[in-house]
Amino acid sequence: MDNQRDNQSISPTETAIKARVDAILGRMSLEEKIGQLTQLGAMAFMPGPKPEDVIRKGGAGSVLWLTDRKQFNVLQKVAVEESPSGIPLLFALDVIHGYHTIFPVPLAMASSWDPSVAERAQTVAAREARAAGIHWSFGPMLDIARDARWGRIVEGAGEDPFLGAAMAVAQVRGFQGDVLGAPDRVLASAKHFAGYGASDGGRDYDPVYLSESQLRNTYFPPFEAAVKAGVGTIMSAYMDLNDVPAGANRFLLRDVLRGEWGFNGFVVSDAFAVGNLVIQGFARDGRDAALRALSAGLDMDMASNTYGQHLAGLVEDGSLDVAEIDAAVRPILSIKVRMGLFEQPYTDESMLEQVIALPAHRQEARLAAQRSMVLLRNEGGLLPLSKQLSNVAVIGPLADSMEATEGSWMIFDHKPAAVTVLAGIRARLSAAAVSYAPGPEIKRDIPSMFDDFVPPADRKPDQSPADAEAAYQTALDTARHADLVIMVLGESANMAGEFASRASLDLPGRQEELLKAVVALGKPVVLVLLNGRPLSINWAAENVPAILEAWEPGTEGGHAVADILFGDVNPGGKLPVSFPRKGAHSPIYYARNITHQPETSPMYRSRYWDGLPTPLYPFGFGLSYTTFSFTNLKVSAAQVKVGAAITVSIDVTNTGAIAGDEVAQLYIHQKSGSDSRPMRELKGFERLTLQPGETKTVTFKLGPAELRHWSTNAGKWLQDAAAFDLWVGADCLASLQTEFEVVS
Ligand code: NOJ
Repeated sequence: MDNQRDNQSISPTETAIKARVDAILGRMSLEEKIGQLTQLGAMAFMPGPKPEDVIRKGGAGSVLWLTDRKQFNVLQKVAVEESPSGIPLLFALDVIHGYHTIFPVPLAMASSWDPSVAERAQTVAAREARAAGIHWSFGPMLDIARDARWGRIVEGAGEDPFLGAAMAVAQVRGFQGDVLGAPDRVLASAKHFAGYGASDGGRDYDPVYLSESQLRNTYFPPFEAAVKAGVGTIMSAYMDLNDVPAGANRFLLRDVLRGEWGFNGFVVSDAFAVGNLVIQGFARDGRDAALRALSAGLDMDMASNTYGQHLAGLVEDGSLDVAEIDAAVRPILSIKVRMGLFEQPYTDESMLEQVIALPAHRQEARLAAQRSMVLLRNEGGLLPLSKQLSNVAVIGPLADSMEATEGSWMIFDHKPAAVTVLAGIRARLSAAAVSYAPGPEIKRDIPSMFDDFVPPADRKPDQSPADAEAAYQTALDTARHADLVIMVLGESANMAGEFASRASLDLPGRQEELLKAVVALGKPVVLVLLNGRPLSINWAAENVPAILEAWEPGTEGGHAVADILFGDVNPGGKLPVSFPRKGAHSPIYYARNITHQPETSPMYRSRYWDGLPTPLYPFGFGLSYTTFSFTNLKVSAAQVKVGAAITVSIDVTNTGAIAGDEVAQLYIHQKSGSDSRPMRELKGFERLTLQPGETKTVTFKLGPAELRHWSTNAGKWLQDAAAFDLWVGADCLASLQTEFEVVS
């Protein structure tokens, strides 16, 4: 099995690594080999023997969810000194957007449209995590998400494969560095392969049905880009993809990942997913699950111990050949060798304190947060605010919430330590100038599983209706006495993420009611949104003069919000997802095919008879405190041969009075051909900083990689000879247009 792994022509270093892996493998028992395919869940609730007893027997190749970092070296010592072959463990954790210094959530980082933001963030995250003893992060999450109801939209780069691929490469580089093995980097895991973001109804884990065209044109590109960038591991998704669970899906794990893309790292399941093949109604029992997952190309079993229980029996009764076990173990050993773990298995326990105290990390987090925020509205130039304001009310349940500021995944013994929006504004204006009232609390109707991670002593009792009403009135009173009101509304951290899908996208609780009442006071109102998904803020979009989408901005979030509100930083982020007007409009995305009755047709009214089907804010949208113009759009040739490339250039000018950032975005549409193609597809972008009056020329290349598509009709990748429209501008509705033709 797995010829690709063995047949590639390899360099002397690769030959040496292979020889070393073979030598290690040669001295391992079958039991130990199966151990390498087993990732042990080290959480208190996990059943079974103590981790050290399993490790001593060589029964685990990796450990995840360890939160007591002193344990890393203790367990590693058992693996290296007491287990039969002394193979070091890989310690793994979800380091999604920071370990100690928390960065904006990935959806926010994608809003920067600046891959270097994501690369630098994951570089810092890797440095801090590695200093704590972690070798392997379960990131980046590369699921394209076009349904804002799906809670995990927060963890990815949004709806677009081109932007998603750029963010994927940047994050892989940030985590891993140029080559595996740097002492301040970690192994990355591109997840969840593949299609998880397209679950029916946006309900987490529900089945996914995607055509091969959708998979290859839209859902695969970030993963393929990560593989090309050298990602060491891939995590398979939980759900059924076209009726085959992703973790036992040979098409995904063998045909595409290894066969077509030449991936030579290893595949890990999602947590408990191998065992869950039985619950999913796919495998008959654990034995069947182990056999079918391994045969499909899944190397490491995360936390279910199904491999541990059944693989040996499957080899003994001849259902599996030991060569198939070896083929799964090899890439795991190879990664351990590449990472230098055999030479340096231990962590210097004094490192973490030094590393997390680095001021540069906080500076990076602040910069990332500044670059991630998106200005959605600024009527009458209400923003930026004056720094001389002396009577500002900051209102809302998230205004002083460290959890909402840091966002999802802060569950592994992390102590919240963010600068909240309130703290950021107070630091800017002086505490005396700022009054604060949270208003009624918000909470999920159905609790999150992650609520259980909060120690019972730290859990707050629910607010009573009477207390909520009193908080509402206090908030209104506080606003009434201020000259200007900053409302900080949105979703709390566990309202997005895993187990966090919702049917409605409205502001939860009484937030909109409070917003309306505050606006009715007639004061200037600024709305700052903290949230991990697009929200349907229809009323605010028409009635609140200034709206800043701050997402879940991380440790320095409050400072970054203040930097933007008070004009020290000019916002330049752009939406990586469309904002639907209602949850019921999901999924919604710009790159859809044209219908037989398009928006331009005289017959067209709306696709819904009860409202507009267009997004509230389009993909790529975001305002600035200055203005820009796009002129002089040129293509290097009106015709290009199949297989050749053209260049596109555009002049972007800052036409306003202050410096600012604009993102030049290039979209194409293939007008006819072997298949219908989306009305627009992003094929180039660049974020620019421009001084007042300054013009920069941006050049994009369009070659076969950008002009081809997976053809349903041909059943393969194809570049049609066809006419194309092309637009460049500031969002997906860009109007500056030209044409070119691909000829054979
Ligand atoms: C389940 C999640 O789906 C996945 O993203 C995560 O990495 C694992 N659990 C491990 O925590």
